[in-house]
Amino acid sequence: MANILVIGGAGYIGSHMVLLLQSAGYRVVVLDDFSSGHDHADITVETVRGNLGDVALLDRLFKQYQFEAVMHFAAFIQVGESVQEPAKYYHNNVCNTLVLLDKLRQYQINKFIFSSTAAIFGEPQGVPIDENHPKNPLNPYGRTKWMVEQILQDYDVAYGLKSVCLRYFNACGADPSGRTGECHEPETHLIPLVLQAASGKRDSIKVFGRDYATPDGTCLRDYVHVTDLCQAHLLALEVLLKGGASAQYNLGNGQGFSVQQIIEVARQVTQKEIKVVDAPRRAGDPACLIADSAKIKKELGWKPQYSDLALIIEHAWRWEFTDSC
Ligand SMILES: NC(=O)c1ccc[n+]([C@@H]2O[C@H](COP(=O)([O-])OP(=O)(O)OC[C@H]3O[C@@H](n4cnc5c(N)ncnc54)[C@H](O)[C@@H]3O)[C@@H](O)[C@H]2O)c1
Repeated sequence: MANILVIGGAGYIGSHMVLLLQSAGYRVVVLDDFSSGHDHADITVETVRGNLGDVALLDRLFKQYQFEAVMHFAAFIQVGESVQEPAKYYHNNVCNTLVLLDKLRQYQINKFIFSSTAAIFGEPQGVPIDENHPKNPLNPYGRTKWMVEQILQDYDVAYGLKSVCLRYFNACGADPSGRTGECHEPETHLIPLVLQAASGKRDSIKVFGRDYATPDGTCLRDYVHVTDLCQAHLLALEVLLKGGASAQYNLGNGQGFSVQQIIEVARQVTQKEIKVVDAPRRAGDPACLIADSAKIKKELGWKPQYSDLALIIEHAWRWEFTDSC
């Protein structure tokens, strides 16, 4: 089986990817600088600690292993911070990625899978959002991802680098066997925040705005289980390894759940009190973001297995009680 380099493999989504690749029989090497990554006791994988923008390190890695493909999860991911510190985001998410892409050219590795995001679309013109929806990112984080997608299109035309860009909506849940899960610091994602309010790690959960044009007035988002996301990467990898063309896919559940619904289902799953504090709307939060994932279902046969919200929250809740972060 092929050697695969997983950059950012110590992070939330990357660590799930490592497990799935290993169970599919691939030889996996992780490159991660641990700026937000974690060691997980239940994951045994060859790990190189370092920055993806380190040219000498990349030379060493690419000479040592014959990688067939690279999966690139490494990025800074906080939307708010990207507005305060855009340089940090452009340097890591764009400049470091360019360094990596040039090394791929040098070592003639021409299969690449990139973690993109729904944030490239900006305020939706309508839902569900398909791949052709106009790209109008509202913040530096979203712009970095859209820039890399455009660079990848140009690198395919000029250098034959085949890439698949997977645009995740809200990644959520945790490994069903409890080997890894979400560990962001600071946490900005709704489900872990709600569960931290349930477990007592935080006092309450803030609901930003109850006056949106949605059935209960709170924002609707599309929550897609992290294991389903990784399954989509595996399908994309198989296609690239067989010589497939570059592609971009939106990845979501296709259903919107409101902030209020998440809190209610979390109360049912955890059987705990969850204190809610109402707060004003945040700038740049669209009322509704729902993916149209028909393209990846049709072209790659992607079938999400964990679409049920209670199951997603159950997996995340089990992870909430491990001390792995
Ligand atoms: N979590 C989501 O809901 C979501 C949604 C859309 C897109 N994404 C994208 O998916 C990817 C993974 O997200 P995540 O939630 O797992 O984030 P994460 O922060 O848990 O993981 C990112 C990993 O990359 C590593 N890293 C960052 N910069 C690096 C560098 N220069 N060199 C080496 N390693 C570096 C970090 O240490 C971390 O282990 C990101 O690219 C993110 O933009 C995530």
